[in-house]
Amino acid sequence: MVKDDLIIELQPNIFRLKGAGSSRHSYLIRGDYKNVLIDSGVDKNFSKLQKSLLTLGLKIRDIDIVINTHEHFDHIGANRYFQDYALIAAHRFAATKIAVEDRYVTMYKSGDLNEPSLKVHLWLENRFRFDLGNYILEVVHTPGHTSGSICIYEFTRKILFTGDTLFAGGTLSYIGESGSVGDYINSINLLETRKINELYPGHGKISNTPEDDMQKAILNARALLRDEEGVEITDFREVPYANQ
Ligand SMILES: [Fe+2]
Repeated sequence: MVKDDLIIELQPNIFRLKGAGSSRHSYLIRGDYKNVLIDSGVDKNFSKLQKSLLTLGLKIRDIDIVINTHEHFDHIGANRYFQDYALIAAHRFAATKIAVEDRYVTMYKSGDLNEPSLKVHLWLENRFRFDLGNYILEVVHTPGHTSGSICIYEFTRKILFTGDTLFAGGTLSYIGESGSVGDYINSINLLETRKINELYPGHGKISNTPEDDMQKAILNARALLRDEEGVEITDFREVPYANQ
């Protein structure tokens, strides 16, 4: 069900909240016990995110947990608006970089709005679970794009929130400063052992062909290792933010 051009209900009480410009996405899961936001997006998109949440009847303080799929600025940028009310959760390898404001890895630039200290309240490990009543979310550590990248698996619907780890069509994200192609291939191999119906990435389209996407992602990663030309990579660092 489409609520407006920024909000799509993908599953009952699971919404994609589209970011402006280059389609960065946050996902809202309205749980029986707790409301979860997966990724807060870029700082400058916050007013649109707030508007989308209000359309769904939620104020900022109604978000109980923000899970960051990894430490990049376009996924954690609006954390500061939530962190006094919500628990901020990230894999511990991402949390270390966020907590010490490692701008080399998070890629914050001069002029970014996000000046206050960022907090991480929950330092996640592989297989950590969030029981929301109607949904159970499991953390799957998937290093590769960055060392602290995670996917979030939901058991009842068999859906996977992938951040920048896996995109529709198997296009690779670039391998970040803390990342590794070898770790990436290993992570996708591990994901292939799960039954997954749909992928909900941090950018671009959702996918209902996860198996094909994972196979293509591995082929792309192996081609990258061999330094072949023409490997399809999407680099979201280069997308301008001026219009957001
Ligand atoms: Fe990223």
